[in-house]
Amino acid sequence: MENQRTIITTSALPYANGSIHLGHLVEYLQTDYWVRFQKMRGHQCLYICADDTHGTPIMIRARNEGITPEELIEKSQKEHEEDFDKFQIHFDSYYSTNSPENKELASEIFKAMEENGHIAKKSIKQSYCEHDSMFLPDRFVKGTCPNCKSPDQYGDSCDKCGATYSPTELMEPACSICGNPPVEKDSEHLFFQLGHFKDFLTEWVPKHTAPEVSNKLKEWYEGELRDWDISRDAPYFGFEIPGHPGKYFYVWVDAPIGYMSSLKKWCEKNNVDFKEFWNGEKTEIYHFIGKDIVYFHALFWPAMLHTAGYKTPDGVFVHGFLTVNGEKMSKSKGTFISAGTYLNHLDPTYLRYYYACKLRGIEDIDLNLEDFCARVNSDLIGKIANLGSRGAQMLNKKLDGKTSEMTDRGKELLASAVNKADEIADLYENLNFAKAITVIRDIADETNRYFDEKAPWKLIKDDAIETKKILTDIINIFRVMSVYLKPILPEFTAKVEKLFKEPEYDWNSIHQTLLNHEIGPFEHLVTRVDPKKVEEMVEESKQ
Ligand code: MSP
Ligand code: ZN
Repeated sequence: MENQRTIITTSALPYANGSIHLGHLVEYLQTDYWVRFQKMRGHQCLYICADDTHGTPIMIRARNEGITPEELIEKSQKEHEEDFDKFQIHFDSYYSTNSPENKELASEIFKAMEENGHIAKKSIKQSYCEHDSMFLPDRFVKGTCPNCKSPDQYGDSCDKCGATYSPTELMEPACSICGNPPVEKDSEHLFFQLGHFKDFLTEWVPKHTAPEVSNKLKEWYEGELRDWDISRDAPYFGFEIPGHPGKYFYVWVDAPIGYMSSLKKWCEKNNVDFKEFWNGEKTEIYHFIGKDIVYFHALFWPAMLHTAGYKTPDGVFVHGFLTVNGEKMSKSKGTFISAGTYLNHLDPTYLRYYYACKLRGIEDIDLNLEDFCARVNSDLIGKIANLGSRGAQMLNKKLDGKTSEMTDRGKELLASAVNKADEIADLYENLNFAKAITVIRDIADETNRYFDEKAPWKLIKDDAIETKKILTDIINIFRVMSVYLKPILPEFTAKVEKLFKEPEYDWNSIHQTLLNHEIGPFEHLVTRVDPKKVEEMVEESKQ
């Protein structure tokens, strides 16, 4: 194809110590919409991801469950992949950061950082548990907040008053693993000197992030870019740092490198040279991430790639956080909903549709469970799917199951729907899924007005030929809407393809019309949400 783009797309790698929840899905779904859209347009667009497997929390979690970290990460990855699959999130490569490819790439990149003079050694004091023989990350020290005196607070900040401090300031500090008081101990650490990249980042950040994001980052890089501690002491589940025995890469070093190693795995399978592909002049690289991990992706990561001779990303797309019914997800309210619990009660198509209705960029998005039912039942089913099902069923039951010619008015309406293609494509390209849905819904509204005005269910008694033409109009417009919706609702559109006995749609399918065309037997495209099921899901999440 002429003008075919080559695009590498990633979502942030989920931690291997927890289940996928509806908050994560805000990210994995929007990336999936975008990649599917690019593929439909004929571009080569790969969706790359992996499980993020290293670090203290994973090591401790495995210890608590009485299994090895390797067993834990294997179990998690299997569960994650099953969840993604059920939500119709399709990766071209889904791998693990605990892989030989990742180890090799992490070594290569670290060696470049070191050879280019960006690694410093400094001794630091840290909390250490003599009982567990390990250094404790801030989150693994608990105690009383020195500011407001609330008990049971983490070593880095207080949940109650918001104060931040170091674990040494905590009152009555205790190791969160064994409960004994930690001691202070010195250890030598390796630091990546981010300050060396100030000029590079000052230029890079505004060009590769949205203005809201780059303004926020400015506060950081216009001040002092502090050295970043990239090493951890044993015991640590991760990769040992080459040339520094007993020191391990902090999980955030090899995590983004996981994007590369997962792609490398794909390259090996597909006989593509990884480095040439990543650094290709035509290759575009985009990372989808949540707002909590911008610092890693827009400062450390481009600096690491830059010094190691790898192309830096063309864009970092940042999204907001999910709230449910206007509040932070909460276990006690039953709104901390895992992907698995959702699937026990509801069709993934609903959530795919609902998130698309709400996603328009960087703001937080709210899943209001009442609105969720309303949008799905009145818009997706009442306005969109019903056009197809009523049209096809009438044609099958009352007529001979074949379309005919279209009416002049129908041709006008169809042309107006087809003319929206560029507008909708632009909206998809720019991640304004909410607006794209609005444009598609407007087509549905207009088509429904036409359907009601012509009342084919009455007309059929007097004029079968005219009725058939009107149904042909409806079916063709519905078909174009289904093409537009395919990136968001792949399963729904697959049923439409089957109903019309057609090969898989791509973006150009909007230019064909089904005239004198035999359609297949009707199968339900999507069923209504039962609000009772939503309540059951919330109940199950409380447990
Ligand atoms: N493992 C790191 C990412 C490493 S990428 C090199 C991580 N994992 S995570 O499991 O905590 O989050 C994965 C992604 O999901 C992140 O982009 C994060 O922002 C996003 N979300 C997690 N909870 C979320 C919400 N409640 N709402 C929206 N996105 C959320 O961070
Ligand atoms: Zn301890």
